[in-house]
Amino acid sequence: MGEKCEINDLLVPLKDKRLRLGSHEYKMVEPIATGPFSSVFLVEGDGIPYAMKVEAQVGCLRPVLKLDRAVLSALDNQTGFPSLIDAGRTDHFKYVVMQLVGPDLSSLLEFAPQNRFSQSTIYKIALQTLERLRILHDAGWLNRDVKAQNFAVGFGEESSIVYMLDFGLTRRYLEPNGRRHLLRPWGPSVGTFPYAPLNSLGFLDQTPADDVEGIYLADQLSKVCNYSGWLYMIIHLLNGLPWHNSKRSLSLAKVREWKMYCRRAGGRAQLFKDVPEGWSEIFDMIVKTAHHERPDYHKIACKVISIAQKENIDLTEQFDWQTNPVLRSLVRLGPLSCDELTMQTCGTPRATRMILSPI
Ligand SMILES: Nc1ncnc2c1ncn2[C@@H]1O[C@H](COP(=O)(O)OP(=O)(O)OP(=O)(O)O)[C@@H](O)[C@H]1O
Ligand SMILES: [Mg+2]
Repeated sequence: MGEKCEINDLLVPLKDKRLRLGSHEYKMVEPIATGPFSSVFLVEGDGIPYAMKVEAQVGCLRPVLKLDRAVLSALDNQTGFPSLIDAGRTDHFKYVVMQLVGPDLSSLLEFAPQNRFSQSTIYKIALQTLERLRILHDAGWLNRDVKAQNFAVGFGEESSIVYMLDFGLTRRYLEPNGRRHLLRPWGPSVGTFPYAPLNSLGFLDQTPADDVEGIYLADQLSKVCNYSGWLYMIIHLLNGLPWHNSKRSLSLAKVREWKMYCRRAGGRAQLFKDVPEGWSEIFDMIVKTAHHERPDYHKIACKVISIAQKENIDLTEQFDWQTNPVLRSLVRLGPLSCDELTMQTCGTPRATRMILSPI
């Protein structure tokens, strides 16, 4: 264990400074997010804004940047993954420069009316985020940190694309040649304590299906992330999770108990209370995936679409951040034009401007 990570002490004084890194010069504009392991800075290189994720060279509790770099480089040119622009190291920190994307889903939710997205936005998020997981799994990586903070929306013309961010907890489960890694008979805790994956506590290694169900938990310092995983993320957006209703403060052990209880009839009824029945069938599809198999992403996506159809949810509607004035400003779409306002008030289908994510 090294010294305390001092990434923010290193970076804050750099605000507004110009840094020569390798053959490029970047203006460090302002921090976007600072975390215990790494920080993300808005930078400018040759007049173009980028995001720079930075990690201290010495004393970082959990080095993540080499994983961000490896995954972004493997998935370059794939829709919904930021392009990798540059990467390197100084004596003090490592850095990855990538395409700048807009706000993450969790921040957008904070500004949404009643902190809720519309049904069509949630179902479209479900389809796109599942597709990102499929691409990541195809490339041989597990995510192990699926949550709303780790998906962000593209700016302006790209606001129909939900990007996957943050590969700091990824792990290869396939050889680069596609040969399956033998799953380990046991799995150590992901990252450093207090990250506490349920499977690892059951001494099981994690699989692609775990990314989709989200059986593991993450507790980053005091912030309990209790809906980690695709299905839990979506149920959280749709209706909240039963363990959020608890008056008592949540502990990892409590949420872990809940997740185990959700595999039984009583828990399942509470998890899927007030959400269309099809979601419980999706849960079945995922938990029935054998440990060495991958989930059937296509079947799950078709099921999501069929639930939407049954519920009269129009998947050709624009995302909330393309129609709500406050959210629009966050994704740099500016005020609605007169034409758009007229179309909205007349209820004219708005599908023509949609870029639907490929399924
Ligand atoms: N390319 C990007 N463009 C815009 N914002 C970004 C970008 N990458 C990250 N961010 C913002 O910074 C936040 C933190 O980034 P990220 O999730 O990669 O790091 P982290 O959660 O601190 O993870 P780690 O555990 O890897 O240290 C994201 O939730 C997002 O809001
Ligand atoms: Mg993150």
